[in-house]
Amino acid sequence: MSPINRFILSAGLLCFFLSFACHHVLAQPQLERGPQDAVVHEGDTVKFVCDLTNVIGYSVYWLYRSQGGFVRYLSIDRSVIANPPLPPQLEQRLSIIGNESQDEFTLRITNVQETDEGTYSCRYGYLGRNVETAGTADLMVQVPPSTQSPWCSVQPESRAVGDYGTLYCNSQAGKPTPNITYYKENEQLVGPVTNSIRHQYQLKAQDNGVIFTCIMTTPALDESRNCSVMPLRILPQATIRPAVSGVEEGTFTTFQCSGEGVPNITNYSWKVIDTETGQILPTERCTVSEDGQTLEIAVMENLELVCTVSVPSGLSGNTTTRIDVVNREQTTMSVVSTGLHTDKPSKEPPCNCPKNEQSSPVTVVLIVAVVVLAVAVIVLNILLVWQRKHYRKSTSPPAGPKMTRAGHEYDDVQDAAEQGQEMQDSAYAAVQEDRDGPITSEYLELQDSPTCKESL
Ligand SMILES: *[C@@H]1O[C@H](CO)[C@@H](O)[C@H](O)[C@H]1NC(C)=O
Ligand SMILES: *[C@@H]1O[C@H](CO)[C@@H](O)[C@H](O)[C@H]1NC(C)=O
Ligand SMILES: *[C@@H]1O[C@H](CO)[C@@H](O)[C@H](O)[C@H]1NC(C)=O
Ligand SMILES: *[C@@H]1O[C@H](CO)[C@@H](O)[C@H](O)[C@H]1NC(C)=O
Ligand SMILES: *[C@@H]1O[C@H](CO)[C@@H](O)[C@H](O)[C@H]1NC(C)=O
Ligand SMILES: *[C@@H]1O[C@H](CO)[C@@H](O)[C@H](O)[C@H]1NC(C)=O
Repeated sequence: MSPINRFILSAGLLCFFLSFACHHVLAQPQLERGPQDAVVHEGDTVKFVCDLTNVIGYSVYWLYRSQGGFVRYLSIDRSVIANPPLPPQLEQRLSIIGNESQDEFTLRITNVQETDEGTYSCRYGYLGRNVETAGTADLMVQVPPSTQSPWCSVQPESRAVGDYGTLYCNSQAGKPTPNITYYKENEQLVGPVTNSIRHQYQLKAQDNGVIFTCIMTTPALDESRNCSVMPLRILPQATIRPAVSGVEEGTFTTFQCSGEGVPNITNYSWKVIDTETGQILPTERCTVSEDGQTLEIAVMENLELVCTVSVPSGLSGNTTTRIDVVNREQTTMSVVSTGLHTDKPSKEPPCNCPKNEQSSPVTVVLIVAVVVLAVAVIVLNILLVWQRKHYRKSTSPPAGPKMTRAGHEYDDVQDAAEQGQEMQDSAYAAVQEDRDGPITSEYLELQDSPTCKESL
């Protein structure tokens, strides 16, 4: 008797402190942990917890109410309802999980679909009567936009500086509707808007190569997605000078890269590739000027020079030139053999200037011209001296004619001198022309042989 009395007493005390619904406490299931509202991505798995106590004798149900008001039971105790049957695709995705001995009736929905959105209630009832709700939660499903979204375009097809281009950006589907924003580099151009963007834009020279990006953001995706267009794309052009193809081994050669671009060229860079190995030569092998436009290199192997020029946006163009190394000994040999053919005096050391072979007829003509001039000048001088002596010996030369004649002679000499000067100028010009080519000029520095210079 006494334990029962004690039980009744404590129950009565408990009832006193709790509410008037106290008499249910001992009999009815209690919710320990209920379901929480959930926002999930389509395809995810969601769990609605329903952790009860005192369920003995009771049944536990999950009830679904769609946003449209459609209501149906999904489960009884630990089984998914088969009557009336659920759509198979839904039945397969539902299950009641949790520790049975702890009275856990957690509803799990895998591969959540947009159609699963709605309200889920955990309920219990005694023999299907007096069914009460223990807990309720809402499910929201976020659906990503179509995989092609966003897509960008720009009209018309061909565009130049000053033209108006229309920038488009669109996205399709998705829940909630994604936001799209157009950026020009980091500058926000249009948006955020939810549907589509159609934006008129006048192209400036500075826009050449600039990428315009449309960024789509939506909570349905973990990361934003983007698409981009380059409304203006005028590739810069580069040229490498001099346009030589063969350079003698070991020759220090300077190459100049010049570029043209819209709005201007802001960066020059070189790449030197060994054509045999395909390897890029280390930077120590060449000297590049501060502005990047000139490159100096000792040519030791067959090379490919690539000059890349870029405009402020980074849009770049490049040009490639191939340099074949000419072996020094081979050149010497060929010159020697040429020398033998042309019956040059053998005491003259062979000149191994490159291009010497080709330029030899011109050189011979020049030598002849110089020699003829020198002889002419000497002869004129001799004549002048002889004539002066002659006049000194003569008794009555009239002052005027003497002056005139002397003047004439002077003029003649000067004419000859001028002619000589001209000839020298042209000879100098010929050398100058060769000097433009790096081969000859560098050769002159290397080979300080007078023979070589003379023959030029
Ligand atoms: C269920 O709960 C009981 C009691 O707390 C525990 O002993 C058992 O390991 C649990 N089972 C699972 C599968 O978690
Ligand atoms: C779209 O942008 C607006 C304004 O910035 C913001 O309030 C809204 O939450 C965004 N919507 C999405 C889906 O990102
Ligand atoms: C655009 O998307 C690519 C990958 O999809 C990402 O690497 C890049 O950073 C994005 N660009 C911007 C401006 O968000
Ligand atoms: C290139 O042009 C931009 C403006 O168009 C100017 O600010 C910049 O100084 C120019 N750079 C050179 C190297 O001319
Ligand atoms: C120039 O271009 C090269 C190669 O593209 C790059 O490494 C370098 O940073 C650029 N320099 C400047 C000043 O933009
Ligand atoms: C040179 O430009 C072409 C396109 O014109 C490109 O395909 C190539 O990769 C560029 N080469 C280098 C070394 O930048």
